Amino acid sequence: MSEPVQEYTGAIDRGLEGVVTCTTSISTIEGSTLLYRGYTIEDLAAHASFEEVVYLLWYGWLPTRRELEEFSTDLHHSMALPPESFGWFHGLPTRVHPMDFLHAVIAGMTLHDPDANLVNAAATLRKSTRLAARVGTIVTAYQRVRSGQWPLQPLPDKSIAWNFLYMLKGAEPDEQEVRRFDTCLILHADHELNASAFSARVTSSTLSGIYSSVMAAIGTLKGPLHGGANEQVARMLLEIKSPDRLEAWLEAALASGEKIMGFGHRVYKEGDPRAKILKAMSREITREVGHPEMYEMSARLEELMGQRKGLICNVDFYSASVYHSMGIPIDLFTPVFATSRVAGWCAHVLEQYQNNRIYRPRGKYVGPTGEVYTPIDER
Ligand code: COA
Repeated sequence: MSEPVQEYTGAIDRGLEGVVTCTTSISTIEGSTLLYRGYTIEDLAAHASFEEVVYLLWYGWLPTRRELEEFSTDLHHSMALPPESFGWFHGLPTRVHPMDFLHAVIAGMTLHDPDANLVNAAATLRKSTRLAARVGTIVTAYQRVRSGQWPLQPLPDKSIAWNFLYMLKGAEPDEQEVRRFDTCLILHADHELNASAFSARVTSSTLSGIYSSVMAAIGTLKGPLHGGANEQVARMLLEIKSPDRLEAWLEAALASGEKIMGFGHRVYKEGDPRAKILKAMSREITREVGHPEMYEMSARLEELMGQRKGLICNVDFYSASVYHSMGIPIDLFTPVFATSRVAGWCAHVLEQYQNNRIYRPRGKYVGPTGEVYTPIDER
């Protein structure tokens, strides 16, 4: 007779909705306010650079001019990939999801890094710098390789935002384009215990190295319920095509029980402050590129979803029309998210190592007990 399974009497929180798993001082959400280290996202989006925000997330304070110069120099000199890796990229399959390509290349970086599995703070910071600097280089190299072009190396005297656009399009971006893209990177850099940051923390809690944590996070971000939603929003807007088709499209989608991508949020109930900033950007940029209907459809959909379902739009909603207007291919939207969010993942891994305890929740067992093995011929 087998031992009875110990009954678990605690509450079950599907999706960990009400669960606080750790203390963190990196970022927080209070109502519709998002703070990075105490600064509002509006303040940072209006005044900071992405590089300053990465410093803030990792070190906890806004850098002095000198700290920022040293940090940016280090970060920017880490953007380049070893030239031989481009030959390797050309041998990899490119008709894959770019997030899978990114995952594979980060795995490749692990194999070449002698510090790969060191978990001390100094080694983790060095690897964070390489990771935060290179995700954009890998994503843009992927785009060039799949278009039959040789990837471009970044220019170390330029920012991550400038280089992303330059390496993607093969031409020097203008100042306004860079500023807008830099703002997008700031808006996506961290978001408290979102699913991918949580994945990164779970992996690092086993004292696995930061590459493993970032790979876990990349896999988590890819899903359409998380970072993958921005791609789905763009596909949805292109499918709807024009504002006059929108209401009928929405009714049909809701009647068939579909989730409308870019809407709803586990934490924000009154509005996502990042979406507000992106909405204004979408309004401007869609007009400039001659596709105001992308914004008009988005704004109308936001209104209708509020009326019909009481749901707010999230960061992935207006970023879709913004990235589309910037000429970024749709399947690179989630990798663009990763180019920014890698900064937050690294901050979470650094914080997790400082006060680590392995994550090990329980599952309430609802399967059978008391079964006795039956020899295969008797089944
Ligand atoms: N479209 C239609 N209905 C939605 C919806 C959406 N985008 N988001 C949530 N709902 C509905 C659910 O169907 C559910 O209804 P029910 O209670 O009648 O079953 C209810 O709202 C609660 O949704 P649930 O999925 O349980 O909320 P959650 O907190 O677990 O999930 C999200 C939050 C963000 C994953 C969810 O809103 C979603 O899937 N959104 C679309 C994907 C997306 O935009 N992701 C990016 C997040 S930043």
